[in-house]
Amino acid sequence: MNKEAKLDLDGKIYSLPTITGTEGEKAIDIASLRASSGYITLDDGYGNTGSCSSKITFIDGDKGILRYRGIPIEELAEKSSFIETAYLIIYGQLPNRNQLRDYSELFSVHQFLHEDMKYHFESFPTGAHPMAILSAMINATSCFDEGLMNWHWGKANSHFHNYAAKLMSQVRTIAAYAYRKSQGLPLIYPKKSYKYTANFLHMMFSTPYEDYDIKPEVVKALDLLFLLHADHEQNCSTSTVRMVASAQANLFASASAGVCALWGPLHGGANQAVLEMLDEIHRTGDDGSKFISAAKDKNSGKKLMGFGHRVYKNYDPRAKIIKKACDDVLAQLHINDPLLDIAKHLEQAALNDSYFIERKLYPNVDFYSGIIMRSLGIPVGMFPVMFAIGRMPGWIANYKEIMEDPKSRICRPRQVYVGEPLRHYIPLEQRK
Ligand code: CMC
Repeated sequence: MNKEAKLDLDGKIYSLPTITGTEGEKAIDIASLRASSGYITLDDGYGNTGSCSSKITFIDGDKGILRYRGIPIEELAEKSSFIETAYLIIYGQLPNRNQLRDYSELFSVHQFLHEDMKYHFESFPTGAHPMAILSAMINATSCFDEGLMNWHWGKANSHFHNYAAKLMSQVRTIAAYAYRKSQGLPLIYPKKSYKYTANFLHMMFSTPYEDYDIKPEVVKALDLLFLLHADHEQNCSTSTVRMVASAQANLFASASAGVCALWGPLHGGANQAVLEMLDEIHRTGDDGSKFISAAKDKNSGKKLMGFGHRVYKNYDPRAKIIKKACDDVLAQLHINDPLLDIAKHLEQAALNDSYFIERKLYPNVDFYSGIIMRSLGIPVGMFPVMFAIGRMPGWIANYKEIMEDPKSRICRPRQVYVGEPLRHYIPLEQRK
């Protein structure tokens, strides 16, 4: 039987039920607290607040554990592919051979955007940030699809499988088009013969005259990056997707909101910020020590980007895998990137510095991912877009979980108002 928590407030004892997750995570259910006591709980930034129960991803931040649907990230990174892992995350089980084949085929079916969407791409200025184009165009897809325009979960759920594949397939096409547009380059159409990640590289780098030479090691590295980003429980963007979904918005509108949240430099934009930081250190001839001093100084406005995490108080398991992949990819492609040496030096210096040790700040997923993407020829502005493509299965799975839960309610937090008490309108002529 679950324990009860007792809260002693204003001379009254309130009993609050507790919940224990399958991995022993403990929570106090305060849903009825306001109705019975008049109190709400206050937790700025939701550092201690569980917003839902979920069956998708498990993280133990103290031990550095990450599992999708129970399977350790290390096993998936070694043995699976992005598409197979996406299926696992969305549907809860690894697909059998037929399911995987059918699922992969669905991506080809949906890879073309509505032809009229081309005109929207044309109206963005050259140099526009691809994340802005990505979120706008994912949302705009609703205008070209009656099923999305008239979305009603009761009716849409039988088409969900199709829409989820359409979103994953089209985000890749939109992302590549966003890049081409940001560079002022002509759009390259997808090809049915290519698999998911190879097709993306084709749309990014082929020209109207010549197909891009798709190297297997490049495909493998990018596929791994997508897989490692595929879900991460209730982070800022996934919580945003769940919040928008809770209002019964359609799948594409919810994912588009996720892209906006992800863009910020404290979240998915950190990979771009890490590369810019390493570049600055390189350009200024610093060995990293000046930057570390600045990152420790709260008045400098600098942080060691790619370090620290709300949940991980240990090495981020994704960072471990990416660091190794980084060494492998650079060796395979015969690239000697001075930024990798700077990153390794910076990591060692930070891990031995009492400021970072005391605060349990370790490298996160973004610390080394930028160096891999740079070696694959992905431009810096596209780094957060790569994160968004990778994160799509997680957003879709969380969307599905909300929609399938008969008890799900609209997300609507409370606040403690600390503004002016009651006062009255002063006519303009009487104001000072
Ligand atoms: N450099 C220097 N100091 C830091 C850093 C950092 N990267 N991260 C945290 N701190 C300090 C922070 O100033 C605070 O110090 P004090 O206790 O003296 O006030 C302490 O460590 C605790 O940090 P916090 O800001 O309270 O932690 P948070 O959980 O609110 O923020 C974070 C987490 C990831 C936003 C933050 O660590 C950060 O800004 N890191 C750099 C940006 C980054 O790499 N983001 C990618 C996160 S992983 C991808 C994803 O899933 O989004």
